[in-house]
Amino acid sequence: MTIRDLQFNVFTLIFAGLLLFGAVGCGEDKNGTSPPADPAGYINADGMRGGRLYDEFWATETGWSQSDTNLATYDSHSDFFRCKQCHGWDLLGSTGAYISRAPRMTRPNVSSLNLRSIAASRTPQELFDALKRSNGRRAISADLSTYDPGTNPTIGDQMPDYGTIFTDEQIWDLVRFLKLDAIDISILYDFQTTGTYPTGSITFSNIGEDGNASSGDSIFAAKCVGCHGADGAEFLVDGGSYTVGRHLREKPNEDQHKIKFGQLGSIMGSQVTDENEMKDLYRALTDQTRYPD
Ligand code: HEC
Ligand code: HEC
Repeated sequence: MTIRDLQFNVFTLIFAGLLLFGAVGCGEDKNGTSPPADPAGYINADGMRGGRLYDEFWATETGWSQSDTNLATYDSHSDFFRCKQCHGWDLLGSTGAYISRAPRMTRPNVSSLNLRSIAASRTPQELFDALKRSNGRRAISADLSTYDPGTNPTIGDQMPDYGTIFTDEQIWDLVRFLKLDAIDISILYDFQTTGTYPTGSITFSNIGEDGNASSGDSIFAAKCVGCHGADGAEFLVDGGSYTVGRHLREKPNEDQHKIKFGQLGSIMGSQVTDENEMKDLYRALTDQTRYPD
């Protein structure tokens, strides 16, 4: 080894050491203190259960006590309590697929908030506190029988006072869903909206994006055929009017949630949790010959 090699090796070592030091140092802020660790409640939370709570928190699939005395209230005014009614399956509220979901006497207005960006920009603790807070929220006992989107929308449109409905554990499950388990629909399809809520409309395009259709066919054969048949038309879903293919092509905003977290109240549980597999499946189901309307 020449002196030059030795020098080179020494410098390489010092340089590598500096890199390593830099990498370790990255976890610290300017004052040399580490960012606070995520709360234990969040780390231990179950985002899959959070997804089911988001759909309909009092369903049996979430483990909800079926002797809860408020069950009749939730059932009779379900759209006033389901997160998905006010924030959408895509978490985009009235700026996403629910741009045309107008309120009725029996369901409130869709919120204009973008929960996806809210969830991304807040810490788990901030989201937890936002869900827990009572101020400005609707009491469970609020009278919803007089709700009228034209003349009396204020109370019904408010977010329920979930701090009095959920345990801390359930709130953490929801936070984990919002931050980690909810699928970012932009990986699954493109969309364009026209007009404004509640009279606007949406069109979907590029369903499945860069997913692989033939691997999606294999996933369908492995996980869906047993119930839905080879062409997804064994029985009609969603009120008896859709094949699986047509449903996915018309409601791609919704199906990712059903396929990942299950169709509550039916025998269809969680089928596909991997996002790339979901993309492949989406891509496959755009084939209208194989999966007819
Ligand atoms: C009846 C409609 C309605 C329902 C149901 C509803 N929300 Fe909301 N949500 C709103 C409205 C309106 C706001 C904005 C005002 C506010 O923060 O109270 C909001 C705000 C939020 C925020 C932001 C809070 C903040 O402080 O910035 C989060 C997070 C959220 N909702 C999550 C959820 C989750 C999770 C559920 C279901 C467990 C849910 N919402 C159910 C209407 C609703
Ligand atoms: C164990 C049986 C079973 C399996 C497996 C299954 N499903 Fe389902 N699926 C059902 C039943 C039952 C329904 C509810 C039918 C109804 O009431 O409309 C349903 C509903 C649906 C719906 C309609 C959702 C809605 O909003 O109404 C879609 C879309 C769907 N399934 C797609 C799939 C796909 C894709 C797979 C495979 C990844 C799959 N299912 C696997 C039984 C199953």
